[in-house]
Amino acid sequence: MSWLLLLCLVAAGILQAPAQPNPAGFISIDCGLPGETGYVNNITTLSYTTDASFIDAYAGSNHNISTKYMTSTLPNNWWYTLRSFPSGARNCYTLGLLMPGLKYLIRAKFLYGNYDGLDRLPISFDLYVGVDFWMRVNIQVSGRWVLAEAIVMVSRDSLQVCLVNAGGGVPFISALDLRPLRNKIYPQANMTHGLVLVNRINFGPYDGSAAIRYPDDSFDRMWFPASGGATAYWDEISTEMKVEIGDDQFQPPQAVMQTAITPKNFSSNIEFTMDLQSSPSYWSLGYIEMMYFSELKSLPNNTLRQYTIYRNGEETTTAYTPPYLDDGYTYSAEPFHARQYLLSINATANSTMPPIINALELFSIIPTTTLGTNSQDVSAIMTIKERYQVQKNWMGDPCVPDTMVWDGLTCIYASSKPPIISNVNVSFSGLNYTISPDFANLTDVRHLDLSNNNLIGSIPDTLSQLPSLIFLDLSNNKLSGSIPFGLLKKVQDGSLDLRYGNNPDLCSNGNTCHPTEGDNKLAIHIVVPVVVIVALVLVAILCFWLQRKRKEGSIRNPVKVTNDGDWIISLPLENRQFTYMELEVITNNFQRPLGRGGFGYVFHGSLEKGTEVAVKLRSHS
Ligand SMILES: *[C@@H]1O[C@H](CO)[C@@H](O)[C@H](O)[C@H]1NC(C)=O
Ligand SMILES: *[C@@H]1O[C@H](CO)[C@@H](O)[C@H](O)[C@H]1NC(C)=O
Ligand SMILES: *[C@@H]1O[C@H](CO)[C@@H](O)[C@H](O)[C@H]1NC(C)=O
Ligand SMILES: *[C@@H]1O[C@H](CO)[C@@H](O)[C@H](O)[C@H]1NC(C)=O
Ligand SMILES: *[C@@H]1O[C@H](CO)[C@@H](O)[C@H](O)[C@H]1NC(C)=O
Ligand SMILES: *[C@@H]1O[C@H](CO)[C@@H](O)[C@H](O)[C@H]1NC(C)=O
Ligand SMILES: *[C@@H]1O[C@H](CO)[C@@H](O)[C@H](O)[C@H]1NC(C)=O
Ligand SMILES: *[C@@H]1O[C@H](CO)[C@@H](O)[C@H](O)[C@H]1NC(C)=O
Ligand SMILES: *[C@@H]1O[C@H](CO)[C@@H](O)[C@H](O)[C@H]1NC(C)=O
Ligand SMILES: *[C@@H]1O[C@H](CO)[C@@H](O)[C@H](O)[C@H]1NC(C)=O
Repeated sequence: MSWLLLLCLVAAGILQAPAQPNPAGFISIDCGLPGETGYVNNITTLSYTTDASFIDAYAGSNHNISTKYMTSTLPNNWWYTLRSFPSGARNCYTLGLLMPGLKYLIRAKFLYGNYDGLDRLPISFDLYVGVDFWMRVNIQVSGRWVLAEAIVMVSRDSLQVCLVNAGGGVPFISALDLRPLRNKIYPQANMTHGLVLVNRINFGPYDGSAAIRYPDDSFDRMWFPASGGATAYWDEISTEMKVEIGDDQFQPPQAVMQTAITPKNFSSNIEFTMDLQSSPSYWSLGYIEMMYFSELKSLPNNTLRQYTIYRNGEETTTAYTPPYLDDGYTYSAEPFHARQYLLSINATANSTMPPIINALELFSIIPTTTLGTNSQDVSAIMTIKERYQVQKNWMGDPCVPDTMVWDGLTCIYASSKPPIISNVNVSFSGLNYTISPDFANLTDVRHLDLSNNNLIGSIPDTLSQLPSLIFLDLSNNKLSGSIPFGLLKKVQDGSLDLRYGNNPDLCSNGNTCHPTEGDNKLAIHIVVPVVVIVALVLVAILCFWLQRKRKEGSIRNPVKVTNDGDWIISLPLENRQFTYMELEVITNNFQRPLGRGGFGYVFHGSLEKGTEVAVKLRSHS
């Protein structure tokens, strides 16, 4: 039977699994796609999902591009739909389940396609990866897509991709991909620096149309064919034989390394120019290049293919001979600065063969050192946002940049330290349910305004452990229970301004419930309890409980029973006095109330040896 059941479960699992499971960690989002389900792109075999679970539902709106630009016969294409962001200065996608310290390739694609029917171009907006500026996206042509690709090392388990309205039109996005990379590839990308793709060219492709990507490239980089009238000067050479790809720094795909170009004229050199002049000034950290070479022909003994590589006339690699059917590469160890990229690959005097090149990558370097908000604060406020479904401009980093702080938050900035959240005002925000314990994780919060919501339940005592809290407004909610002792104590010693008016079910006193109508700020009449009865109460409770247990016949024997049915307990019955300070330690600052009796609260505590005790305190005198 159990085998059968197992089989059924396995079968069900198989049936439920998507037809094309993506490689581990791949996220492929078709932005603006309606509905819940995605589709499989039958060229890359990758499944694309809707963006619903990566962005707040109220952020932006979905659109189709104009049918004029729906050119492909494929039923689903990432460029058919998009999400645009007419409101909010910043809108972000959150990509989760990442491994901190791992490198990822992030790729965003944009195709305007006159989705808004306004045919108004150009459009430009800014793209951020987390809190770091990535690039400015410039859309000039309706039917041509724009690519943004970055390689970054992540420091947290999630990453945000944010579109920021920079006054150049409504931001939009058509597709977003995330691909995990192996950490040793692209050593120039590290915790402090990211790489932004300028160009990635596969020279001499078999067919001049599609980019080579997954599954040919296990990381799904896009290797674009060289464009322009290059074939007038270049011969394409290729092989069907396997090119060895080492488990090395760049790991180009086999299909890219199996093709190359060489000058038609044996005595010519390879010349390649790219204009960097128009490159934006924010790429001030310079560029790096990677070049890939593999000898695809079995050369006779007396021939030599050897060349020297120059960048802008400066020699970068001397007398290089590409390895036969193996992946050779050169790359810039240091970033270079230039307005123009002129690559010359010149045969040496000894060479009997013209130079070849298989592929080229050019990146600019961006700093990724902007300090985001303190991660504990981020985690807490994110959880709060999720729990209450807060619909404000709560996207991206809460405090960074300081021009885009979340509504209702105030942050403290100190140089070379992550900003911290100091004030949280979520009044009039329609918060339902109980007060989240996560508010107590905002360890630096000074002002907390939860007033004018629909909060129910009791006030968590953990709020009293916020060391900097000086103002707490809970008024105009539906809170019940009583005010935790820890908070009352703070009010008593004048360190906290507590407001809790207009919570009809709230007991504002340890003993009795005073419905507090209207007035916002109540004087706290409660005197911090002094007299505390401990061990005797405990013993009394224990004895009472043991008596009951004995009658019940002890099914869940928490205490050992001897043959004759007598209880053996090993509680040191000492007559001991405790100072108030000791009780604070024992009860962990009166954190966990067990209940409330006729005289006041009973708190859970534990003695030095871990013995659990109940601490009862009186509310008056
Ligand atoms: C992809 O799907 C389209 C339409 O469903 C079909 O015409 C085409 O042949 C498929 N291509 C591949 C490579 O399977
Ligand atoms: C996009 O087009 C599909 C049909 O092709 C339609 O069902 C959907 O409503 C359109 N979406 C928008 C936002 O117009
Ligand atoms: C990170 O990479 C940049 C260039 O890509 C380099 O200048 C810097 O020294 C690297 N930092 C570390 C810590 O390796
Ligand atoms: C080949 O290049 C050399 C030197 O650049 C030139 O003199 C020669 O005319 C070229 N040959 C052809 C066929 O283009
Ligand atoms: C490399 O070749 C190009 C074109 O053939 C030539 O203009 C350039 O001067 C050569 N560079 C060197 C350093 O010889
Ligand atoms: C090429 O050289 C190798 C040894 O260096 C020799 O074994 C081989 O026979 C030579 N091939 C030809 C075609 O000369
Ligand atoms: C060219 O060949 C000569 C003779 O074999 C050798 O001395 C010289 O070092 C070679 N030059 C290069 C750049 O390899
Ligand atoms: C709040 O802090 C506790 C204890 O430090 C931790 O276990 C919990 O995960 C935190 N919650 C959030 C949302 O960060
Ligand atoms: C919180 O914001 C509301 C308006 O949204 C304002 O009336 C209230 O004074 C603010 N609270 C604090 C503590 O500043
Ligand atoms: C909160 O409660 C109000 C009404 O009491 C309701 O309309 C709203 O949908 C609730 N919000 C959430 C997030 O459940």
